[in-house]
Amino acid sequence: MPDKIAVIDFGGQYAHLIATKVREAGVYAEILEPDHDVELLRSYKGLILSGSPALSSQDEFAMNGDIFTGGVPILGFCFGHQEIAKFHGGKIEHKGQEYGRSVLRITAESPLFEGLSKEETVWMSHGDAVVSPGDMEEIGVSVSPDGKIQRYSALQHMPLKHFGLQFHPEVDDTPNGKKMIENFVLKICSCRKSWTQKTILDTIENSLGKNTLHKKVVMLVSGGVDSTVAAVLLGKFLPSENLHFIHIDTGLMRENESAEVISLFERQGLLNSMEFIDASRKFLSKLEGISDPEEKRKIIGDTFVEVSQDLIENSSEDESFVLGQGTIYPDRIETGGSKHANRIKTHHNRVPLIEEMIKEGRVVEPIKDLYKKEVRDLGSNLGIPSEFLKRHPFPGPGLGVRCVCSDGLVENNEFEKVKKSLATIHRGAFKLGAIPIKSVGVKGDLRSYEFTATVCSEKYDLSEGSIFANVVFRFAKGVNRVLWMFGLKELPEFKPRRAYITPDRLQLLRKADKKANDLLLKHRVYEEIWQMPVIMLPVKVNGLDAEIIVLRPVRSERGMTARPYFLSENFMREMDVSLKETGSHLLAFDLSSKPPATIEWE
Ligand code: XMP
Repeated sequence: MPDKIAVIDFGGQYAHLIATKVREAGVYAEILEPDHDVELLRSYKGLILSGSPALSSQDEFAMNGDIFTGGVPILGFCFGHQEIAKFHGGKIEHKGQEYGRSVLRITAESPLFEGLSKEETVWMSHGDAVVSPGDMEEIGVSVSPDGKIQRYSALQHMPLKHFGLQFHPEVDDTPNGKKMIENFVLKICSCRKSWTQKTILDTIENSLGKNTLHKKVVMLVSGGVDSTVAAVLLGKFLPSENLHFIHIDTGLMRENESAEVISLFERQGLLNSMEFIDASRKFLSKLEGISDPEEKRKIIGDTFVEVSQDLIENSSEDESFVLGQGTIYPDRIETGGSKHANRIKTHHNRVPLIEEMIKEGRVVEPIKDLYKKEVRDLGSNLGIPSEFLKRHPFPGPGLGVRCVCSDGLVENNEFEKVKKSLATIHRGAFKLGAIPIKSVGVKGDLRSYEFTATVCSEKYDLSEGSIFANVVFRFAKGVNRVLWMFGLKELPEFKPRRAYITPDRLQLLRKADKKANDLLLKHRVYEEIWQMPVIMLPVKVNGLDAEIIVLRPVRSERGMTARPYFLSENFMREMDVSLKETGSHLLAFDLSSKPPATIEWE
């Protein structure tokens, strides 16, 4: 059993980042809730308390104080730092806000800072601060860019091996944060470096051997990185006669997607165990005449379950098959696990039917404890080509949620209000308008479904455009997305147009998606971005039917938040030329960050 570190999750996005960094130091880390059983917590070699969006006084996040006397080394970041200081009699006050870069000035010896300079750049993001350290020793102060010194930014209590850091060592903006985490897990907690590719593979082999060696395993493979790596692992450790992979073409796939999956399985020697089903007619006929995004998602999800259930029933004579899935660690934690993580969506691997099978011990998930990067490394070790492993994420419902539909009607009152509110915004060099199409966003952790503003300007400058988009988000009502209309000097009036998912629209979207992705490779920017949904919007312009093709390239931290990635003017021009060849379509760039927009439009 490898040595383990527990990361206590007080919410926000930090816990997974911390666990990732611990694992990069070669030590296995798991995410646990603050109210986890204290006896169980004592079986870990060390604990790391995460930051939190909560203020330090909120009881909701309280953990059982007994853990502080349990003899387990503890390190806290930000909120976690304040919790440790409180235990030691320190005082926290809502003052001393620091956001962004600061310098940590190390003021005393600490094993946490071994191998570091006397001054280190660190990343701060806090409103509360420790104002008296109780019986902890100050080991560092922080100096903000304007020279202000903040006391007690790093504290320790050597006898109990407790350490607290006000800043965030887990983010890349703290360049030597990794070293501090390494010092904690390897030197202070004395963990062995035992989380390696070999231990990962051994752990997976053991878990598969125990549960599934003699059982039939049925697994749906989409062509995504996770399900492919999971399938290849099953192929490595289980007898091939027990494996039954199914690939369903929903008709909502990208160009050549199914052909590529089949070719990859052939190269991996798994093609004999694979069944290919073309269910595109079924999916498309169920989506006829549907425009509401949630309804579309539900139909696609239900049809998936329906088609796979039919297949599974037909493919296994006995009831005792096990379902294989490519679930990875964050999917598991975000849907079922953490009370405090924002529940953005229920992952398709955790719908009620599957939860029931998990309870019965009938689900096998070889990569359920791994992060994406670990899955990619493992895939590479297993001989899966790197072009495949580096592919951008693609959502389960596929192009179904990127082919935006409309009943051709718009709640006029509502749309007029949006236009009125946009009219009050000072626009400088920009033209500002709106399109009668809504999309999904996230405001204050809640789903929003609102209209889209459009901007254009003489000069192509997406960076200025995104600054202006933020002004729009601040002042406009009923808007959660802003589009830069490429190549336009004036904004035409966009009218709604009735359009649903049809083979023709999908074909156009598929072509645009392929062209846009080819351009990402050609311009060598593919690896700089997290993903680039290509979306189509039905509108009428000057009485003529048109589609707006939207490019939505983003940089992102695990898809939870996102910022637009600015494409060059040449890129957009090449894309525009290619679109004009296929019809009179307009090209747009999505300037919205997440929040308030989501990455996908639906
Ligand atoms: P949003 O649109 O919520 O997307 O900002 C965040 C990330 O999740 C992906 N996504 C999905 N992935 N099934 C999936 O497997 C889905 O239903 C789904 N919806 C969104 C999205 O592509 C982005 O990476």
